[in-house]
Amino acid sequence: MSTPCVLVSGSCGLIGSEVSVFFAGQGYQVVGIDSNHRAVFFGPEGDTSWVLERLQREIPGYRHSTLDIRDREALLALVDEVRPQVIIHTAAQPSHDRAAAIPFLDFEVNALGTLHMLEAARRFCAESPFIYMSTNKVYGDRPNTLMLQELETRWDYTDPAFENGIPEGFSIDQSKHSIFGASKVAGDVMVQEYGRYFNMPTCCLRGGCLTGPNHSGVELHGFLSYLLKCNVEGREYKVYGYKGKQVRDNIHAEDVARFMFEFIKAPRAGEVYNLGGGKANSCSILEAFGLAEGATGLKMKWQYLDENRIGDHICYYSDLRKMQAHYPAWGISRPLPEIVGEIANSWMQRLSSAV
Ligand SMILES: NC(=O)c1ccc[n+]([C@@H]2O[C@H](COP(=O)([O-])OP(=O)(O)OC[C@H]3O[C@@H](n4cnc5c(N)ncnc54)[C@H](O)[C@@H]3O)[C@@H](O)[C@H]2O)c1
Repeated sequence: MSTPCVLVSGSCGLIGSEVSVFFAGQGYQVVGIDSNHRAVFFGPEGDTSWVLERLQREIPGYRHSTLDIRDREALLALVDEVRPQVIIHTAAQPSHDRAAAIPFLDFEVNALGTLHMLEAARRFCAESPFIYMSTNKVYGDRPNTLMLQELETRWDYTDPAFENGIPEGFSIDQSKHSIFGASKVAGDVMVQEYGRYFNMPTCCLRGGCLTGPNHSGVELHGFLSYLLKCNVEGREYKVYGYKGKQVRDNIHAEDVARFMFEFIKAPRAGEVYNLGGGKANSCSILEAFGLAEGATGLKMKWQYLDENRIGDHICYYSDLRKMQAHYPAWGISRPLPEIVGEIANSWMQRLSSAV
């Protein structure tokens, strides 16, 4: 049998790189697409060239394309040539806050770029599972309308209907999404549509906070990674509103890749899953400070700003029950303190080798 091929867009990003390494380990040939737009969105701190070097070093036969997914013709030609058995689409403008300053670029990458990926798949490999990294921002700020209780270090849902977190049936309509959330909704709905209308094996993974040691965390994207970077560097971290008690659920990128692998073994059409760390891997920012200090022994420096980020969730954690019902072999393998430890070590190594 010939070697199966996975095409990974955004292969130098947090999720794309993890997926590339994971699928290579499962015997796949990996073709990665990444134009290093993260450096365009976030400047030199977002540069992912170091990840490309790592992929080229660690993955035998890794093939890289620097094409921009906005370039329809180049993308169609690549997919026609490669005809991958699996497509994993993670390339994106990923920042909630950054999008408002670059609305055209944000929409072209997140919405139009996703359509380019889908249409290339439909023309040349319609049977191949197509996995799209969506986001919990598709729910807009609607989770903030749920009744919340203020606990000592975090907010939490009062309504027992949400004790396991936010389910996939939660409305994505009529709430404030941010420009980024809206462009991701467009991509998400289009991926569902190619599943439903063309019966292609597509799915949307609506991520919570996806993280891990390979994240180039910056202030505007990559909460836990950036928080640990600040801790290790002794840099001040800014907390935006909600008393620092806002809750995020965190999942290691490898657990994301493990879910994708389960999906391609038994793909469904037009599915949607909320993919985060769930309640067990959730923490507030204040709690994350404690975890960071525990991991590095360094005191967190931080400043509180009374104004929250526009549309920011006060409390969000994913209800993982649908994923677990459809794919019982999958579950979270990395508890939060372990994830924090890995990220801390990675920053300490990266920053000491940069000196
Ligand atoms: N990290 C998170 O916490 C999180 C949470 C929810 C959803 N997501 C989603 O997961 C996906 C991956 O996120 P990530 O954290 O790995 O982001 P990332 O920024 O680390 O990776 C995205 C990669 O795509 C590349 N890219 C961007 N525009 C491109 C273009 N036009 N052509 C080719 N390559 C391009 C970037 O250079 C970058 O390497 C995104 O769709 C994001 O919206 C991420």
